[in-house]
Amino acid sequence: MAIKRVGVIGCGLMGSGIAQVAAQAGFPTIVVEANEALLERGLGGLRATLDGLAARGKLEARAKDEILGHVRGTVHLEDLSDVDLVVEAITENQPVKNETFARLDRICPPHAILASNTSSCNVTAMAAATKRPEQVLGLHFFNPVPLMKLVEVARTILTSEATVTTATEWVRALGKVPVQTKDSTAFIVNRLLVPYLLDAVRIYEGGIASLEDIDQAMKLGCGYPMGPFTLLDLVGLDTAMFVAEVMFEEFREPRYAPPPLLKRMVMAGHLGRKSGRGFYSY
Ligand code: NAI
Repeated sequence: MAIKRVGVIGCGLMGSGIAQVAAQAGFPTIVVEANEALLERGLGGLRATLDGLAARGKLEARAKDEILGHVRGTVHLEDLSDVDLVVEAITENQPVKNETFARLDRICPPHAILASNTSSCNVTAMAAATKRPEQVLGLHFFNPVPLMKLVEVARTILTSEATVTTATEWVRALGKVPVQTKDSTAFIVNRLLVPYLLDAVRIYEGGIASLEDIDQAMKLGCGYPMGPFTLLDLVGLDTAMFVAEVMFEEFREPRYAPPPLLKRMVMAGHLGRKSGRGFYSY
């Protein structure tokens, strides 16, 4: 099966980006939000991004109109009754995601593939909430979606080979690079990245080096584009702590446990760039 029509649920940070890249690749895309105000905010953000690209000469006005012409917004999940693939990008909450997958299963055509962009929820539980678990998988995009090339294609023990093949081809059609992984909490990238970030906090907490020197060391010593504290501030300390807690819950290994300093910074409201202060001030 080839994917022709796409549905995206949630038009926040990730959903709007996924809708944008799907529309840019020529797929008619329906975006579902929780209510009209959120839909307008999400689609407004998508329009502003494309306007910005056009203003900087990176997108022709005609191409911009064509992309916007491929996107339709709705607040009714029922409008996904004729799509071939859905990418769910709603709030990171397992029960809400499970319920959404159960509803999608009743609404979408029998052949449709149901994918989740979750970072840390259990895709197998979402699959089990449907009567088509072999057509459910994770498609984990990276922020900002239009710029980041990688998509982790995460199969559960129930996902069929045909589903993985079709979804992987669709990821390539978006101009992205797929990597294959299993539905295991945090997949590949966060499984490696999160303990690294937590260790950086532990080194700082232990008084071994300054923030600036740890960042500088990882940039110049490993060739990373930014150091761990710059990255933590960008990701959001609350988001990093949330993912770490889910990983600790799953694997029960101390290296995934959020260090005391990280917890206290979140309690203090020092969440990173978004709150104006994290490990650095903005
Ligand atoms: P967000 O909070 O920016 O967007 C979520 C959107 O979903 C909101 O606009 C909300 O109104 C909407 N929503 C919630 N429930 C809904 C429902 N029942 N029906 C329709 N819309 C609904 O969150 P973000 O950052 O876009 O994350 C979305 C998903 O993507 C999460 O599962 C997250 O783990 C995952 N993700 C996030 C990344 C990031 O860097 N923020 C990276 C990769 C994955």
